[in-house]
Amino acid sequence: MSDSVFPVPAEVAARAHVDNAKYLEMYERSVEDPDGFWGEHGKRVDWIKPYSKVKNTSYDYHNVSIKWFEDGTLNVAANCVDRHLEKRGDQPAIIWEGDDPGEHKVITYNELSREVNRFANVLHGQGVKKGDRVTIYMPMIPEAAYAMLACARIGAVHSIVFGGFSPDSLAQRIDGCKSDCIVTADEGLRGGRKVPLKANVDRAAEKAPVKSVIVVRRTGGDISMQDGRDVWYHEEAARVSDQCEPVEMNAEDPLFILYTSGSTGQPKGVLHTTGGYLVYASMTHEYVFDYHEGDVYWCTADVGWVTGHSYIVYGPLANGATTLMFEGVPTYPGPGRFWEVCDKHNVNIFYTAPTAIRALMGAGDDHVTKTSRKSLRLLGSVGEPINPEAWTWYHNVVGEGRCPIVDTWWQTETGGILITPLPGATALKPGSATRPFFGVQPAIVDAEGKFQEGATEGNLVIKDSWPGQMRTVYGDHERFVQTYFATYKGLYFTGDGCRRDDDGYYWITGRVDDVINVSGHRMGTAEVESALVAHPKVSEAAVVGYPHDIKGQGIYAYVTLMEGEEPTDELKKELVRHVRAEIGPIASPDLIQFSPGLPKTRSGKIMRRILRKIAEDSFDNLGDTSTLADPAVVDDLIDNRQNRG
Ligand code: PRX
Repeated sequence: MSDSVFPVPAEVAARAHVDNAKYLEMYERSVEDPDGFWGEHGKRVDWIKPYSKVKNTSYDYHNVSIKWFEDGTLNVAANCVDRHLEKRGDQPAIIWEGDDPGEHKVITYNELSREVNRFANVLHGQGVKKGDRVTIYMPMIPEAAYAMLACARIGAVHSIVFGGFSPDSLAQRIDGCKSDCIVTADEGLRGGRKVPLKANVDRAAEKAPVKSVIVVRRTGGDISMQDGRDVWYHEEAARVSDQCEPVEMNAEDPLFILYTSGSTGQPKGVLHTTGGYLVYASMTHEYVFDYHEGDVYWCTADVGWVTGHSYIVYGPLANGATTLMFEGVPTYPGPGRFWEVCDKHNVNIFYTAPTAIRALMGAGDDHVTKTSRKSLRLLGSVGEPINPEAWTWYHNVVGEGRCPIVDTWWQTETGGILITPLPGATALKPGSATRPFFGVQPAIVDAEGKFQEGATEGNLVIKDSWPGQMRTVYGDHERFVQTYFATYKGLYFTGDGCRRDDDGYYWITGRVDDVINVSGHRMGTAEVESALVAHPKVSEAAVVGYPHDIKGQGIYAYVTLMEGEEPTDELKKELVRHVRAEIGPIASPDLIQFSPGLPKTRSGKIMRRILRKIAEDSFDNLGDTSTLADPAVVDDLIDNRQNRG
C-alpha cells in the first residue's frame, strides 16, 4: 500500500475525453439511468438493425439472465474493418513486430479487409458455418487476428487456446466446445525458440478428432500434414476471393468462447456475445486509454488471453485505431526490447502486465534510459495487483514522470475493464485500480454477504450488469449461476478480495478462492493437483500460491509419494516436466515439497490455510490446529519447507 497521490497533470486533463467533473456526471447517469446511458453509447458501433431495447438483465439466483441490445443486429468484423475503409483505408490497422527485431509488417485497413475476407472464405471452404466453433491455436502473427475477425464475419464462434498450452489442454478445450475446425501455424517463434504448434495439434487431435486443420506457414519448419484433414492456409487463400459479405448477427449471438480456470474442476468456457461486448470493449478502449485519432497503441498481451481479445483486436479495431501486435517476449534479444519497439513505431499508449514490469525493473534502468520513449503518453497495467515499487519504477523510469498509469482491474468474465483510473479524471495512487468505469457498481461484502460501507475490506462483488459481461458458461448455464451468483445471492461475485479507502478508491488484494495468479495468468490449484496425481509415483498433492518477486505468485506443491517411492531431486524435476506436459509451461511448480502427510481434519479435508501459511514462510500464527487428525504433520511440513525468505 502507498500513501502517495498523483494528481492529473494539467496537459493530460486538457486533452482527455473526460475530466473529473465529466466522469462524475457520466458515472451518475450510467448507474441511475442505464437504459438511457447505454442506449446512447450503444450507438458508437454500427448496427444493421438498430436496437429498441437496451438492458434486460437479472441477477436473481433463480433466473440469471443477461441480455443487452437484444433486438439489434450487427456484424463485429464489419465494425472493426469495413466501416473504417472510407475514411482510413490507408491508415495502419495493425503494426506487427516480429520476434526477430529485423522483422515487422504494417497492415492497413484496406489490407486488413482483404485478408479477413479471404480468411472468411477459406473457413467457408472448410465447411464452417454460422454458429460453428473454431479453435484457434496460433502464435502472435497477424493471421491470428484475421482468423478471429473472419470467424466474426461469418458468424462462427472462436475459441482461442493460448499457444503455451499442452496438447492435452488443447484437446480438452476442443472437446469442450465440440469444435470441428482448428486454425494453427506450423510453428510459433518466441524469444528465438520454436514452439511446435502443429505437432501439438496433431497430438491433441488424437484425443479430440477434428474435421479440418488450417495451417498458416510461419517458420517453414518440418511438419506433417494429414491428407483429407490438413490444409495450408496460403494454398487455400490463393484460391478464394477477397470479398465476403458479413453475416447479420443478433446482438446476443455468441462471438467467442474463452476457457479460463476456476477454483474447481476443468476450465470453464466463458461465453461472450456480439453487441454488448463490442460496445463495451470499444468504449473502455477509448476512455480508459484516452485514445485519440492517430494514436499508436500497444497492448503486449497474447491473443490467447482475454486482454488480447478486447484490447489488441476488438476494442482498438472497432475504434479505427492502430494496434501493435508483438510476436516476441519482453527480454529478447535483450531487456530493452519493449522500449526499442516503442521508439521504432512511435508508440503513444503502452499496456502491459506487472510481472513484465518487475522482470524488466530487475534488469536495470540502463536498458530503459538508453531509449527515447518520447512518443509515450500513457501507460497501463493489467492482470494482477501491481506493487507500489513496480508502479513507481514504471512511472518514474519508463514514463519519466509524465505518463499517467491506468491500473485496470477486470477478468475474462467481465469482457472489458471494470475498475480503472481515467487519465484525465482520476488522481492516481500506486497500487490502486481506483474507481469504477461507467455503469459498473462495485461493492464490498463480508463472508456472510453483508454490504460493508465506507473504508473497509472484504470480498468484491458487482451489483448490476454491464454490457460486456459474460452471458453463460458454454453449455452449462447452471455452472455459470453456481460459480458467480450462488455465493452472494443477487450479486456477481468476482472471486477477488478488495479494500476501499476513505476516498472510495478500490485496491484489489488478490483472489480469495483456490485460483492463483502466476505472472498474470490464472491457474486453478485443482488443475495442477490433478496433473500431479496423474503421475504414477504420486499419491496425493496439494497446491497453493506463495509470494514470488517476479511472478506475483509462484506455484508451491506439497506432494505425498506412493509407498516406497524415493523423494529425490530428480523426481522433483520429473514432476515439473510432467505438469508442463499435462497443462503447459505456465503451470510449472516453482517449489515442490515432499511431505509424508498433509494436514487434514478428522473428516479428511485438507486444511489449505495452513499450507498457504507455510508456503508463505510465515507460520508463527497458524491458527487453530487442534482439529487436525494428526497435528504432528504440521511440524514436519515446517521443518522441510521450501520457501525460506
Ligand atoms: O485477481 C484478479 C486479477 O486477475 C483476475 C482475472 O484474471 P483473468 O480472467 O485471467 O483476466 C486477466 C486480465 C483481465 C482477477 O480476478 N487482476 C486482473 N487485473 C488486475 C487484477 N488484480 C489486481 N489488479 C488488477 N489491475
